[in-house]
Amino acid sequence: MAVSQLLRKISTTQMIRSNMKSDVAWVENDILNNMKIILSYRHKKFIPNELINKAVQYVSQWIAFDDWFVGDLYKGIMIRGSVGVGKTLIMQATTATLQHMGSKAVFTHISDLNELYRQEDREAIENLKHINVLAIDDVGMYAPIVNVYGNIINPFDDIIDFRYRQNKATMITTNLTAEQIKEMFGLRTLDRLREMCNDYTLTGKSMRA
Ligand SMILES: Nc1ncnc2c1ncn2[C@@H]1O[C@H](COP(=O)(O)OP(=O)(O)OP(=O)(O)O)[C@@H](O)[C@H]1O
Ligand SMILES: [Mg+2]
Repeated sequence: MAVSQLLRKISTTQMIRSNMKSDVAWVENDILNNMKIILSYRHKKFIPNELINKAVQYVSQWIAFDDWFVGDLYKGIMIRGSVGVGKTLIMQATTATLQHMGSKAVFTHISDLNELYRQEDREAIENLKHINVLAIDDVGMYAPIVNVYGNIINPFDDIIDFRYRQNKATMITTNLTAEQIKEMFGLRTLDRLREMCNDYTLTGKSMRA
């Protein structure tokens, strides 16, 4: 195993498995429970769906470092899919499960990330760069360029580049295709994302009734 692969393996293992029970069934159940709790705040009932169950199983196997996981356990996860299929809900519930397990995980929306850069909130930005697991929702929803006093910056690119170099686990959701990511962020970012994240597509109908 190459040194870089080994380093990636060590740092990812440390960050995901710290203080954690790693039983897939437990993780899966916890994520599903969190989804139900989040939905109950919205006065909604959980609707069981084979595709959502499969996605939750995929994420659970990743968290639990399960041998049955079909992707690369040492990468993060990118959940791609059309509108309303449940990407955000799964990601929010997954972040809560990671926190529940003692891992330092944060869920953030791309617009919040842009806002932190706009406000030049260096402390918060540093925290997000270093956090063990960072979930970024709705990548590609807004134009990536934020202008602070004439400076042109690209918050998503900046965060991804840092976390790539530090071998940190990142989860993202997006409506974009690979081609659209390339158009919006450039080939360099697409390439990093490919190396950093397992690419999972959630299909199905919109749950926004
Ligand atoms: N299993 C489910 N049962 C009931 N409601 C659900 C379920 N999954 C998601 N929803 C609801 O459906 C709506 C869409 O879900 P969510 O926001 O997670 O989709 P999304 O894939 O992130 O959509 P977008 O691409 O537009 O961001 C939300 O209101 C959510 O509460
Ligand atoms: Mg969403």
